[in-house]
Amino acid sequence: MSTLLPMMTAYEKEHISERQPLPERYLSLPDDELDRRIAAAKAKLGGRLVILGHHYQRDEVIKFADYTGDSFKLARQVSRHPDAEFIVFCGVHFMAESADVLSAPYQQVILPDLAAGCSMADMAEPEQLEMCWSDLEQMGIIPTGARLQPNGRSSVVPVTYINSAASIKAFCGERGGVVCTSSNAAATLRWAWERGERVLFLPDQHLGRNTAYKLGVPLDDMVVWDPNEIWGGLEPDAVSRARIILWKGHCSVHTRFTVRQIENLRAQHPGLRVIVHPEVPWEVVQAADDSGSTEYIINTISKSPVGSIWAVGTEIHLVNRLANQMHPDRTVLSLDQFGCLCSTMFRVSPNHLLWTLEGLVEGEVRNRIVVPDERKYWTKVALDRMLTIQ
Ligand code: 13P
Ligand code: SF4
Repeated sequence: MSTLLPMMTAYEKEHISERQPLPERYLSLPDDELDRRIAAAKAKLGGRLVILGHHYQRDEVIKFADYTGDSFKLARQVSRHPDAEFIVFCGVHFMAESADVLSAPYQQVILPDLAAGCSMADMAEPEQLEMCWSDLEQMGIIPTGARLQPNGRSSVVPVTYINSAASIKAFCGERGGVVCTSSNAAATLRWAWERGERVLFLPDQHLGRNTAYKLGVPLDDMVVWDPNEIWGGLEPDAVSRARIILWKGHCSVHTRFTVRQIENLRAQHPGLRVIVHPEVPWEVVQAADDSGSTEYIINTISKSPVGSIWAVGTEIHLVNRLANQMHPDRTVLSLDQFGCLCSTMFRVSPNHLLWTLEGLVEGEVRNRIVVPDERKYWTKVALDRMLTIQ
């Protein structure tokens, strides 16, 4: 029987009024009944429906996905299914919002539980970004009222990780910036530095730092902008010397991985290879053998010889799936012996999936994600730019 987590993030508290709760009758259903009814609803909906599933979803949910992937791969699937009336996104809110923006007007995007947010995305609020931009103007970093410098380059190119709200993406799109994912972050930073002197990277300081460092930018050329401090807690001189301004945000799941965990596992398993997601802290990436998006992690382990031993620093559902289903012929361990669970990804239960699918069969759309029209244009500009960069 599936369990449902009761925790709430800031995002969930704000959107709780829009959220349609799971009715009692869907709460305690046996696993075989859930499976049978989800399969039946899916079959009834046929080509009207496409289900997208992120790699961190539970096994009981992801087995019903038509397509699985990392954020980039799933975003690309949206425009590849113009015939689907309904896109059910088994993932978190920012992914479903991006799908809504990238989908055609006649398509409807559904997030089975609207409380599936992302605590990192909550760390950058539109008002904070507007304040940051006006602080950068006051500090003389961005010429006031001008978007470009006399040499045709921007002073600051805003780049937001896809793990952010649509309003943040729209802000970046409108100012010549772009969205990136963990799989195209390096190419995106190169793209941004071709267009401007420095990058404002948000909300994940770790992805920004790890990617810029990999591209040869020394740590001394990076500053961290604290949105809760006046002028980000920085002196104008330090900002003007920086090649990248890192927003002070992080993923609470990936920052649990440590260098000590890597050392302990290496001592226990000679020949161990360590691969981590780039949302982990910088020193953890330095101590690991490799880093990359969830899709990259899967591909790298798939290409490794049978019998290899891996420690993986990412969400536990993907690690367990790699170990038990995808590669039982290799040893795949979680870097954190207690496993790192993304509690918001976990909110999408098979019960929610069944309830939304049966709703569609009955003609009722539940937990639809709609990005307001006034935000759509620039969000789409930023996402379309993202899709061209690889
Ligand atoms: P990927 O795009 O690598 O799947 O990452 C998404 C995410 O939220 C990682 O925490
Ligand atoms: Fe957000 Fe972290 Fe969960 Fe990814 S793992 S969805 S960044 S909270």
